[in-house]
Amino acid sequence: MSIDRRSFLKNSLVAGLGLAATSCMPIARLESTDDYHYTLTLEEASFELIPGTQTPGKGFNGQFPAPIIKGKQGRPITITVINKLQEPTTIHWHGIRIDIAMDGVPFLTQKPIMPGETFVYHFTPPDAGTFWYHPHVNSLMQLGKGLAGLLIVEEAENPQFTPDDFAADLPLILKNWHLNDDGSFSELSIPRYAARMGTPGNYETINGLHKPVFDVPANSWIRLRFANIDNTLVYKLRIKNQPAFVVSIDGNPIAEPKPLKDHPLGAGMRVDIALLTPDAGQEIVVENGKGRLFFSYMRLRTIESDKQQSKASLATIPRLPLNPIPEPDLENAETLKFVFEWEGAVTPVSHNGKTHHKFWTINRRAWEGMSANNIPEPLARLELGKTYVFDLKNNTPHGHPIHLHGFMFKVIKSNKKRIDPFYADTVLMEKNERVKIAFVADNPGRWMYHCHVIEHMKTGLMGYIEVS
Ligand code: C2O
Ligand code: CU
Ligand code: CU
Repeated sequence: MSIDRRSFLKNSLVAGLGLAATSCMPIARLESTDDYHYTLTLEEASFELIPGTQTPGKGFNGQFPAPIIKGKQGRPITITVINKLQEPTTIHWHGIRIDIAMDGVPFLTQKPIMPGETFVYHFTPPDAGTFWYHPHVNSLMQLGKGLAGLLIVEEAENPQFTPDDFAADLPLILKNWHLNDDGSFSELSIPRYAARMGTPGNYETINGLHKPVFDVPANSWIRLRFANIDNTLVYKLRIKNQPAFVVSIDGNPIAEPKPLKDHPLGAGMRVDIALLTPDAGQEIVVENGKGRLFFSYMRLRTIESDKQQSKASLATIPRLPLNPIPEPDLENAETLKFVFEWEGAVTPVSHNGKTHHKFWTINRRAWEGMSANNIPEPLARLELGKTYVFDLKNNTPHGHPIHLHGFMFKVIKSNKKRIDPFYADTVLMEKNERVKIAFVADNPGRWMYHCHVIEHMKTGLMGYIEVS
C-alpha cells in the first residue's frame, strides 16, 4: 500500500472530529460533555510503521499516534491512566504548569503506577497551546517504543482570536524509530552514542507515517503544531517558498510572529507555525535539515475546501492570545549557575545491584537515581515567589535540550546568538553555548530538571530543584 493511500485511510478516520481532518491523528474519546474526562491505557501494541510490517511497540490505548488529549484553558481535565504494561509507569504532562502531585515523576511526586493499577490525574491547565504527555519511568524504552502523545489545550474564549482564524489545525508529531527492515526494534541505545549525541533512530515518521502528504485548505492560514517526541534528535524545519511564521514556542504564543527559518526543535520541544497556503492543486514542501543539508520531510497538498478562507493575506495573520505567565523580576533576581559536563566514565558503574553508565554531570553531580527511600538532594533550593535567573553553561560539544518541569521560563540571553526573549519549558543549548533563563518560582514542589535526550538524562544529566 502506498504512503498516500495509507495516509488517506488514516485521514478518513478522524474526519469531522474538530481538528484538521487530514492529520492522521486519533483524538481521544471524550467521556463526558460537561467536563474533559479521558481514559488512557498503556499496553502492548503492534504498529504498521514500515508499510507491510508490524512493529511490536507499546501504545496508549494500543495506538500510535497516541490519542490526542484535548482540553481547554482554565477548564479541569481528568485522565484515568490504566497500566497494562508488565512494568511500573507514571505519566508526565510536559509543559503544563501543574500541581506537583500531578506532575507524574516516580517517588518525587507520586508512587509508581504498578502493573494492573490505575491512577487518576486531574489538573486545570492555565495556559493554552501545544503540550504533550509521556511516561517518566524507563523512558528509553517506554517512549522509544511509542508511549508519547499530544495534549492540546485550546484557547479560552477571547475576542481577539478564535480557533477558526485558522482554516486547519494540524498536529504533527515527529519521531525517528530504531527499526530493522522487518519492523522489529533494533538497539534503542548504544553506549558510545549515549556518550555523544544519543543513539539516533533510523526510520523517520510524522504522525507515524514516513514522508507523508497531507491535504490542507488552499488560500488560507493554517496552524501546524510540530512536537518533537523523539528521544534524541533535533529536527530543523523550514518551509520553502511560502509565507510561514513561528507563532508559538512550547505552547507559548509569541507577541510578534517571526518568519520561520531553519527552526531547530530539540527533543521535547514544540513549535506552532502559521502558514499561508497557495491556490489549490499545489504542493508545499516542508524540509528537515542536518547541518547545512536539507531534505524533503513532508508535503502539504492544497485543496479546495469549505473551510477555505476568503481573504487570507499577510495582513490577516492570526494573533494568538498570550499565556498568563508571571513576568520575571530581573532587577531582584538571584542567579544560580549550572554547568553541564561530560564525565567521561565509559565503564559502567554499579548502583542498587544494576549496572549503568554515567557519562554526564550537572554541577559535577550525576543523578544517582532514585527509589522510595532514597531521594537525593536537590540541585538547588528556591524561595517561593522569588525570581531566579539560571545561567546554564554547556561545557560539552553536544546539544542538550534542557527541560524544567512545573514552570515556563523566559529565555533571555545566549552567548552565541541574538535572542528575542521568549517563554519555553525546554531550551536547546548548542555545543558550548551559554544560555540564561529566568522565571518566577511561584509553584511549590520538587521539580525535575533534565536533558530531554533520554540517554543523557539516564546517564547523569538529570536532577531536580526544590521550591518552598
Ligand atoms: Cu518531557 Cu521530565 O519530561
Ligand atoms: Cu516536563
Ligand atoms: Cu543532553
